[in-house]
Amino acid sequence: MNILIVGASGLVGSNCQAYLSQFDEFAVLGTHLSFETTNSVYFNSCDLADTQNASLDEFGPEVIVHCGALTFVDYCESHPEESHLKTVVSTQNLLAAARRHNSKFIFISTDYVFDGEQGPYAEGHPVNPICVYGAHKLAAEQLVVNSGLAYLILRITNVYGDELRGKNFIARMLNQIAASEPIALTLPHDQYATPINARDVAKAIKVLLNGKKQGLYHLGSTDYMNRFQLAERVIHKFAYEKAALTLTNTQALAQAAARPLNGGLLARKFLSEFPDFRFTNVDDYLTTKLHA
Ligand SMILES: NC(=O)c1ccc[n+]([C@@H]2O[C@H](COP(=O)([O-])OP(=O)(O)OC[C@H]3O[C@@H](n4cnc5c(N)ncnc54)[C@H](OP(=O)(O)O)[C@@H]3O)[C@@H](O)[C@H]2O)c1
Repeated sequence: MNILIVGASGLVGSNCQAYLSQFDEFAVLGTHLSFETTNSVYFNSCDLADTQNASLDEFGPEVIVHCGALTFVDYCESHPEESHLKTVVSTQNLLAAARRHNSKFIFISTDYVFDGEQGPYAEGHPVNPICVYGAHKLAAEQLVVNSGLAYLILRITNVYGDELRGKNFIARMLNQIAASEPIALTLPHDQYATPINARDVAKAIKVLLNGKKQGLYHLGSTDYMNRFQLAERVIHKFAYEKAALTLTNTQALAQAAARPLNGGLLARKFLSEFPDFRFTNVDDYLTTKLHA
């Protein structure tokens, strides 16, 4: 099965590429936009006419995994046009490409489609985004649903894991610990989510593909915690002494974009269909780093 991963230079995409490439049943092509990696090709999903784009005709994707988006939530709030281009238009373009190749479309989405009043959320809960990023992810989801293509929409949140740029929250803390740098963070106690390892997203994609599944799935482990607790978990695991965590709340932070406070996702539907699947937890990941 030929799988195109758009956004393979990012956290989720790179984990998908690394994981799925291990299996003989999959031929995987990963793309980057601005951050070239040793095994990615250039592809700008905002502009299918970009002459430098890798040729999809040559590869013939049977599956397109769309991991590309403008993911800086506060930046999206002040740059709604760019957010629309990189999240909504890019999805529209990739759906057109998928239609040409009759590819199954896998769209990676978020709990930011909810307002955060009643999380963690199951798939059936009504959506109500409260920021530009969430609204654009929802608009892209709706394009996928109405595309007429076979699709999977996988909602995830608070992703961590190994990535080249080490830019996710946990990776940044681990890098500071490895460099013996002081860590000083002011974090809210009222933003809850269900952190997920990007590797588990890749594993879930494999079982969903093998099971020929379609539709909307929420993915998440049993971890449900706020930002402060997440940072505390890292500090305690490493018994790191050069850390100062200050507790605050969302109102005091005055972030540009509103956050779904009681966010997070319930993977009940996914786990009922794949009862043998085991999501790992933050602690499992930290244990692997402690002994690395
Ligand atoms: N990280 C999270 O906590 C989280 C939570 C919920 C949902 N998600 C969703 O998961 C997906 C992946 O997120 P991530 O954390 O892996 O993001 P990321 O690390 O920022 O990676 C985004 C990727 O998209 C690529 N990209 C951006 N615009 C593109 C375009 N126009 N054409 C082609 N590629 C483009 C980037 O390429 P370059 O870097 O090479 O420019 C990068 O490879 C996104 O859809 C995001 O909304 C993430």
